[in-house]
Amino acid sequence: MDYFNYKDGQLYAENMPVAELAARFGTPLYIYSRATIERHWHAFDNALSNHPHLICYATKANSNLAFLNILARLGSGFDIVSQGELERVLAAGGDPAKVIFSGVAKTEGEMRRALEVGIRCFNVESIPELHRLNSVAGDMGLKAPISLRINPDVDAKTHPYISTGLKENKFGISYQMAREAYRLASTMENINIQGVDCHIGSQLTELSPFLDAADRMLVLLDQLAEDGITIHHLDLGGGLGVRYDDETPPEPMEYATALLEKLKGRENLELCFEPGRAIAANAGIMVTQVEYLKDQDDHHFAIVDAGMNDLIRPSLYEAWMKIIPVIENGAGQRQVYDVVGPVCETGDFLGKKRELSLNQGDLLAVRSAGAYGFSMSSNYNTRCRAAEVMVDGDQAYLVRERERFEDLWRGEHLVK
Ligand code: LLP
Repeated sequence: MDYFNYKDGQLYAENMPVAELAARFGTPLYIYSRATIERHWHAFDNALSNHPHLICYATKANSNLAFLNILARLGSGFDIVSQGELERVLAAGGDPAKVIFSGVAKTEGEMRRALEVGIRCFNVESIPELHRLNSVAGDMGLKAPISLRINPDVDAKTHPYISTGLKENKFGISYQMAREAYRLASTMENINIQGVDCHIGSQLTELSPFLDAADRMLVLLDQLAEDGITIHHLDLGGGLGVRYDDETPPEPMEYATALLEKLKGRENLELCFEPGRAIAANAGIMVTQVEYLKDQDDHHFAIVDAGMNDLIRPSLYEAWMKIIPVIENGAGQRQVYDVVGPVCETGDFLGKKRELSLNQGDLLAVRSAGAYGFSMSSNYNTRCRAAEVMVDGDQAYLVRERERFEDLWRGEHLVK
């Protein structure tokens, strides 16, 4: 559930009319709802309330400082995949002792910085990375806390581009090699084994792949115990899906209940989740204005002022995202439109074959845009990135200014 609803035919973000925000801040515009972010985070936290746990929000889904700060104030941890994300989390007031560092290509510099600020755990994704971390931590006279990210080889049954837990994916260490990798880690002077980690993919709408992965991880935990290796936490990654259209993904409570059933007898094993989309997606919308309506033979185009540089999910994954009018026009004639952007690429669309009643100048909202929306946006076609607004009840805060043209060539230099 979220706080973007119609009242008297007008779309609201909490208590603020979206049309008013668009008039005040311009379009394209990302609008987030604080109450929704908090509600979604609590849904995870409450689901695990009777068991030791840490919710580490996946920063990549939406890394706006205000967004991160709201979560930091709830006591959230953070899953990061770069030093940039680490610096954002710190700038937003996040606690480094609740940061988990994932990613396949951590550089020495990134490891150094993460050790310096005292992160909670590195999710190590390969043997070479383990050697590098051991040596960096050794240079600093520290022990690096680690989990190994194990690839459980289960089919997440999601889009191939966002499936990560299969053998052929680049992520993690293969399940067959896991025990051996832990043995190796246990011999390393500057490595401190803390946990076991996996992340099998994103936008999962069924529980069974998560539960299969958990089963495999628990088998591994028992094998490690036989080897004298104690595991303090099990990190099952992110991946819980959301409703874009008519999907019925499991609720965090269902997921947690099924897992806790499996964890009977392991009451001290801390559980970590790294949800990104499930917290952020439906906590945001992207608002765009119709610039032109263009009819070509049997084809009708609504050409809007937001493009694939603002929101790339439809172009990149053929993701279906709901497009709704900001002001309902019940009486108007409906037409089937391709909602397309200004970018010079055929693949630049927000939605195809959408039945809408439109006039030039109308505002549309793309729903579920709070995750992997702004954070994947770019300046392609030398377009300024959109502004971002956080709504809190009847207050709206500009949490990121719209880029200005000068911002776009900052740091560029002419030749002599
Ligand atoms: N943990 C790790 C290690 C991850 O790689 C990811 C996402 C997450 C957690 C969070 O997953 P979530 O709960 O958001 O599903 N750009 C794509 C999604 C890419 C996800 C990458 N990894 C999209 O827009 O659909």
